Amino acid sequence: MADTQNLLLLPGDGIGPEVMAEVERFIAFFNKKSNKVKFDTDTDLAGGAAYDKHGVAITEEAMGKAHACSAILFGAVGGPKWDKVPYEHRPEAALLRIRKELDLFANLRPAICYPALAEASTLRREVVEGLDMLIIRELTGGVYFGEPKEIVTLENGEKRAVDTQVYTTHEIERITRVAFDLARTRGNKVHSAEKNNVMKTGVLWKEVVIDTHKKHGQGIELHHILADNCAMQLIRNPKQFDVIVTDNLFGDILSDAAAMMTGSLGMLPSASLGAPGNDGKRKAFYEPVHGSAPDIAGQGKANPIATIASFGMALRYSFGLVAEADMVDKAISNALAQGYRTGDIMQPNMRSVGTTEMGKAILGELERLVV
Ligand code: IPM
Ligand code: MG
Repeated sequence: MADTQNLLLLPGDGIGPEVMAEVERFIAFFNKKSNKVKFDTDTDLAGGAAYDKHGVAITEEAMGKAHACSAILFGAVGGPKWDKVPYEHRPEAALLRIRKELDLFANLRPAICYPALAEASTLRREVVEGLDMLIIRELTGGVYFGEPKEIVTLENGEKRAVDTQVYTTHEIERITRVAFDLARTRGNKVHSAEKNNVMKTGVLWKEVVIDTHKKHGQGIELHHILADNCAMQLIRNPKQFDVIVTDNLFGDILSDAAAMMTGSLGMLPSASLGAPGNDGKRKAFYEPVHGSAPDIAGQGKANPIATIASFGMALRYSFGLVAEADMVDKAISNALAQGYRTGDIMQPNMRSVGTTEMGKAILGELERLVV
């Protein structure tokens, strides 16, 4: 009997619904072909779309579904249309609430340079060709959530804004252990990025990483790197990295930089995982790293690869369907090798396609691999 898995789809705003429509083809495909799994899907609003209808970035009902499902597939949220909505209801609040409430502390952002795209990066081919690295970003702590977080008016009428960067031992230890565990499935090398030269959180981060390495890091080559130097090294020689573990804000920035090694931000998938529950399963959330791209929304131009690859990560990390996940990755690689390109990765003499055509091309390659 196939396992039934409940997927919650939150397409969100901008290009979110367009790229999610492509993932639905893949869900239907596995429902037809696989005897291991059956996906039941439910869809809800998030971000600006939810605000327009309900006046909040995500409803309690949608949050209830998010807590109950086996995995969430997310598109993107935000756009200039919602620039003026109250801060607590801004579209991004949906994303941050899900991350925090489901305690999705481990954000996995793989950056892989597919051979066919080695020329698409702004960096030279030899710098990026064959790149396969993984950024592990702490996702529920740090300056994103630390209190106080406020803008106050001082007596002299001037304003003062505060964000608080805060980390505890436990938070650093659990993300470090995820990094070590995943490094063991790859190149056994971890770079921990912080700024212990200016930040107390950096001092503690480094201490805890060293300690965790003693206890749980057997066989792992560990390096400490200042986050600014890490940004520079990523551009200089990205292939020196296997796994980078870092905090919420540095991870946000370093993963955007890493995305460009792959040719486009439209290529980067992500998984956000919680701690294993009593049933051994982790809460899980999958989303492309790119945003809602309002400038091209509704035009059928968006690159669906990051979202399709995020679904591939769901197969791998939530459902144990590793062979199937490998096939999805291979299908993406093959469609690229066939010359299919959306605008963001277009190169001379390649075949310029839109969102749907790219989705269908990848699905066609998957069908060839599965039969
Ligand atoms: C990301 C995004 C989000 C973040 C935004 C949309 C809140 O940039 O997932 O990288 O900063 O975490
Ligand atoms: Mg970001």
